[in-house]
Amino acid sequence: MLRTHTCGELRKQNTGEEVTVSGWVQRLRDKGGMVWIDIRDRYGITQLMFEEGVCEPAVMEAAKKVGREDVISASGKVVDRISKNDKILTGEVEIRVRQLTTLNKSKLPPFLIEDETDGGEELRMKYRYLDLRRNPVRKNLEFRHKMMQQTRTFLDSKGFIEIETPVLIKSTPEGARDFVVPSRMSPGEFYALPQSPQTFKQLLMVAGFDKYFQLVKCFRDEDLRADRQPEFTQIDCEMSFISRQDIIETFESLTRHLFKTMLNLEVDPFPVMSYGEAISNYGSDKPDTRFGMTFVELNKVAQGKGFNVFDQAELVVGINAVGCSEYTRKQLDELTDFVRKPQIGAKGMVYVKCNGDGTFKSSVDKFYSQEDLKQWSNAFGSNPGDLLLILSGEGGSTRKAMNELRLHMATLLELRKKGDFKPLWIVDFPLLEWDEETQRFHAMHHPFTSPNPEDMHLLESDPGNVRANAYDLVINGVEIGGGSIRIHDRGIQQQMFKALGFTDEEAKAQFGFLMDAFEYGAPPHGGIAFGFDRICAVFSGQESIRDFIAFPKNTSGRDVMIDTPSKISVDQMKELSIKLDLKQ
Ligand code: AMO
Repeated sequence: MLRTHTCGELRKQNTGEEVTVSGWVQRLRDKGGMVWIDIRDRYGITQLMFEEGVCEPAVMEAAKKVGREDVISASGKVVDRISKNDKILTGEVEIRVRQLTTLNKSKLPPFLIEDETDGGEELRMKYRYLDLRRNPVRKNLEFRHKMMQQTRTFLDSKGFIEIETPVLIKSTPEGARDFVVPSRMSPGEFYALPQSPQTFKQLLMVAGFDKYFQLVKCFRDEDLRADRQPEFTQIDCEMSFISRQDIIETFESLTRHLFKTMLNLEVDPFPVMSYGEAISNYGSDKPDTRFGMTFVELNKVAQGKGFNVFDQAELVVGINAVGCSEYTRKQLDELTDFVRKPQIGAKGMVYVKCNGDGTFKSSVDKFYSQEDLKQWSNAFGSNPGDLLLILSGEGGSTRKAMNELRLHMATLLELRKKGDFKPLWIVDFPLLEWDEETQRFHAMHHPFTSPNPEDMHLLESDPGNVRANAYDLVINGVEIGGGSIRIHDRGIQQQMFKALGFTDEEAKAQFGFLMDAFEYGAPPHGGIAFGFDRICAVFSGQESIRDFIAFPKNTSGRDVMIDTPSKISVDQMKELSIKLDLKQ
């Protein structure tokens, strides 16, 4: 037997027992007549002890020869430890080793397998199997596992059934590019990997399954960020005979169940905020509501006083950084540099210090009197000691820049507290978004989203003003999930494709199967999908979803461990009817 116990299992009550443990060498201390080895597996660390004269000389010799990360197996008696280690659960005991076997030698690992490692990101990704031995990474995957089990338990208890949908499909428009797979048997034709199982789950509703879910891999060829991977996992769901409220209630309950079972937290009922309110108060459809600092529009009080920049702006908007009036010139310059960064895009920033003595000091004192600035301060409801930060320009881009500044200030002021969770629902999104580049409308969620029933009559005459019967779940500024009530009527679906600029033929070629299905008794239905990797990261208070994926891609979409994407052989290409560019 290679082990009787794991390396995290032995306690004081095991003293006197003959045991065998197996694992990896974490550390070796050689004091001549005594040798200690820390042996590690995924359950913990146990100390092995070798004493000259007690164990055989050959065993003593073997112990001195082990190296970091060698795989060993040790048998002996559990004894009380003289110097106890209260940092680990096995710290009261050690094994007085009789027999030691090296099961496999290890090369010197390229970085320290410790909680704090010296390995850079790229190196750790190349040797991900070593990185996964480290506690923080291992714990993230254990967390993910538990979250999966809890999700399944909850949805199963509510009568949902998990059904797998295919991975080799036809393109589904979710806004990103598809990954495609050439077909050998149909030369020149391609499958697409699903961006989500959207159309299939709707077909399952037509089939009568009524409550579906799936923990499912989705694939999107889009630019990567900390919260985006080319392949990621969704908790994908669909229900029939429900209203928007039913979906919101069901998935709020799921989220609450996860908060309770994963973090032992009871969370207040989730507020519901309209898209319009989110944009005007936070400049974002995924506001972080752990802190206030909501936007205050100043057009009325700040325009018409001869300050050209404000007078010409569509929007003058600001936030109140409470208690920051003592900011130095340098700190204010840093904030101006921040908003001027190309990715933020503001031209400049105006500040007003609300001094402790009730006076004001601003960067635009030339144009505004103390009385004017008092009016601004009233608009913010600010107090002496506060600092007002103001941006101006075109509405959309100014709100976006202000959103970035708000988040930046909150980070500086440590208002984005880990362990504080503020979930909310965002509803009443516009159904369509105008795209300047292609000069056409795009579906904000996807083309199967039903218009808000009250706005149905606008679909042809004023499509830009139709609201969607859609909802997003946002937690701490991260979009966790999104969904909608679907169109289940062929005529309306056709109208929707028309509003999106599809000809009837194009719509039929791409989605004929779905529209056909709508003619065979499609029930009213709707659903939602949570980003599973994101919910793991947000619950753990971490930014990057990569830390919750066993084998993630880097920011260029590469897996540096298996070194892919990679070339395929000429024979494979021929077989797949992929033409070679011989000039390359
Ligand atoms: P949506 O496109 O909003 O909706 O996706 C749902 C959720 O999936 C997560 N997500 C991602 N996570 C990691 N990496 C990515 N590249 C990525 N893209 C999306 C987000 C997002 O909120 N079929 C619809 C759902 C529906 O209507 O029922 C859909 O996929 O957390």
